[in-house]
Amino acid sequence: MSPTHEVGALTRFAPAKINLALHVVGRRADGYHLLDSLVAFASTGDRITVEPAAEDAFTVSGPYAAGVPVDAGNLVLRARDALRKEIGQSAFPVRIHLEKTLPIASGIGGGSSDAAATLKALCALWKADLPSTDLAALGLSLGADVPMCLYARPARIRGIGEEIAPIGTLPDCPIVLVNPGIAVSTPAIFKQLTTRDNPPLAIPPETNAPQAWLDWLHATRNDLQPHAIAVAPIISEALRALTNTGASFARMSGSGATCFGVFATEAQAEAAAAQLLLDDPQWYVQATMLKGSDSAP
Ligand code: C5P
Repeated sequence: MSPTHEVGALTRFAPAKINLALHVVGRRADGYHLLDSLVAFASTGDRITVEPAAEDAFTVSGPYAAGVPVDAGNLVLRARDALRKEIGQSAFPVRIHLEKTLPIASGIGGGSSDAAATLKALCALWKADLPSTDLAALGLSLGADVPMCLYARPARIRGIGEEIAPIGTLPDCPIVLVNPGIAVSTPAIFKQLTTRDNPPLAIPPETNAPQAWLDWLHATRNDLQPHAIAVAPIISEALRALTNTGASFARMSGSGATCFGVFATEAQAEAAAAQLLLDDPQWYVQATMLKGSDSAP
């Protein structure tokens, strides 16, 4: 029997990545910015399914399928091609399906998380036993956020995204994600920065007490947020809408435009999400859990 017939379809979850805080602390000679960020992953996300096929294929479904490029620039296809180049002969043709539930170019790592899930799924399908450091290096060649999406657990991120230090004290936390219907270009927002040597993050709490984490959130920033708001003022409306519906804290993730609001209970997060959708049916609104441990839904 050929190896292509030994396994069926495999699915891997591609969780939304949330930057709880993001400080820009420097700049490399190649123009990439040095960050000090704390990321965690939500129980909402995309899904990647891979299976053996007669020839390579790529299909997309879901509410945000229309915005996904299906040419060679797509991060899923770049991940497939990079891994195939790495492992060679055993990388038989595959059909890849992406279920796209996260908005495109929205600061919650959709494309990077899809690439990471593709690498994980294809490693399993192709039985490629790559050391995690090699997989992270391959991920980094695809995008700065891919290694943290491969890790997919709460972590403090430094460098441009390649230095990943686990954070073991973040509590599971009900949040609502809101995107006011706009895609934001990451390079365009980084270009707006006037200061690139901000102070590092306040030390993350060594306890999972929610109030300690709220205090820490108030003591940190997203340095990209004011610049994203300058480009897309509607982001302020999304932040205001979150606090108006009861969020105890609201901030933009990554380079935007998606914002997260922190809620005391899942019921309050669900009620706020329902209200936000009533007020703005065109917005992406999702109540979800920020996972203190792993990101499996
Ligand atoms: O690595 P990735 O392709 O996701 O980055 C997209 C762009 O965002 C980069 O070309 C760069 O302009 C900007 N960027 C940056 N500093 C980072 C990450 C991204 O300046 N740490």
